[in-house]
Amino acid sequence: MNILLIGQGGRENAIAEKIVRSKRTGRLFVSPGNCGTAEFANNAAIGDSFEAIRDFVIANKVKMVVVGPEQPLVDGIADFFADDRALKDVIVIAPSQKGAMLEGSKDFAKAFMERNHIPTARYQSFTKATFDDGAAFLQTMTPPFVLKADGLASGKGVLIINDLEEAKAELKSMLFDGKFGSAGGKVVIEEFLQGIECSMFVLTDGKSYKILPEAKDYKRIGEQDTGLNTGGMGSVSPVKFVTKEFRDKVEQRIIKPTIEGLRNEQIDYRGFIFIGLMNVGGEPYVIEYNVRMGDPETEVVFPRIKSDIVEAFEAVSKQKLDKYELEIDSRYAVCVMMVSKGYPQAYEKGKVITGFENTEDCLLFHAGTMENEDGDVLTNGGRVLAVTCFGNNQYDAMDKCYRNVGRIKFEGAYYRRDIGKDLL
Ligand code: AMP
Ligand code: GLY
Repeated sequence: MNILLIGQGGRENAIAEKIVRSKRTGRLFVSPGNCGTAEFANNAAIGDSFEAIRDFVIANKVKMVVVGPEQPLVDGIADFFADDRALKDVIVIAPSQKGAMLEGSKDFAKAFMERNHIPTARYQSFTKATFDDGAAFLQTMTPPFVLKADGLASGKGVLIINDLEEAKAELKSMLFDGKFGSAGGKVVIEEFLQGIECSMFVLTDGKSYKILPEAKDYKRIGEQDTGLNTGGMGSVSPVKFVTKEFRDKVEQRIIKPTIEGLRNEQIDYRGFIFIGLMNVGGEPYVIEYNVRMGDPETEVVFPRIKSDIVEAFEAVSKQKLDKYELEIDSRYAVCVMMVSKGYPQAYEKGKVITGFENTEDCLLFHAGTMENEDGDVLTNGGRVLAVTCFGNNQYDAMDKCYRNVGRIKFEGAYYRRDIGKDLL
């Protein structure tokens, strides 16, 4: 079967690598893909328009479409395919547009959790018309104050503020001055949760589900979680504090009610759910839903999936996931992200990357790279390369990962040296 994967990051490189190993896969296309996917798949720059994707799917006899990033999901790619007779036999691993609102609207997600009794921070939502109520609500809360733009804001729409007056001013600038654009037309204000975060992943056909390996990601640029937020500097799976007891709580209190809620509300959902969790003294709370896999979590989660992922996707499309056995590698995986000097602020591109041939026993997922006419691989983004290694324990995985990271060179290369350290 020919398969099209949409996206271009380290996440998509890791997903593509798993798809291409399936005995069910014929040709794999990745749009637009990157240097990593070019090594074993066909990159095709189809663009974002659903019509262009449809034409490509028909012309290339694609039978399955897998979607990496959130934007096409929130824009309704699943509904577009379902509504087009020429595409109705194409499997699309994506929630419906309504389902994608779990990520596309924080207000929708919070109301969904409230309706389905899923533990999350206490909240209220406000618009321009209810700004005064929002300011009054802030006054009833204890700092720090958490303000979230309702819509997609590329991971930048959350503000955590200690000072009440500053929080009111930010609320005003989100609602009235278009800070975060239309995403901030509505603002969720919620209680601050104190704890340690982790990411859980579920593949669902809308009726049943499989829990994928959990992961922890490291968002800040600096060691010991200091400095600016980034797209993610590394990840680890499994996560030590996700014990059987904690996982059971997540399944009973969050995953089951989420799937049942989708079903009861007749929301068609055949894809991934990424649950951002806060572990508050051993009790799980949902910080956010995403309707896709995480990046760089995928770079440790997907390598741990031993089963044939395309068969899993077929089971999802037939709503027979309950019959599917998901086999997971019990080893530890650690991913360290190599980034450009200056990231997440201004950085230069076009630095030659060398040393690939010196790495051993590791997976290299490309995030921001490009190839020049001479066949050199150059840096082409802030996050450049995700280096993932396995170990029988976390320490071994980290050790191997850092040895391989040290063998890859480019001018200004930066990475955090403490990925996973807090979990040892
Ligand atoms: P989100 O985009 O919702 O994942 O939020 C971004 C980050 O803000 C999260 O990864 C958390 O670190 C933090 N955050 C969001 N909501 C809360 C909350 N209610 N309490 C504490 N931290 C939060
Ligand atoms: N690693 C967090 C995310 O993908 O949103």
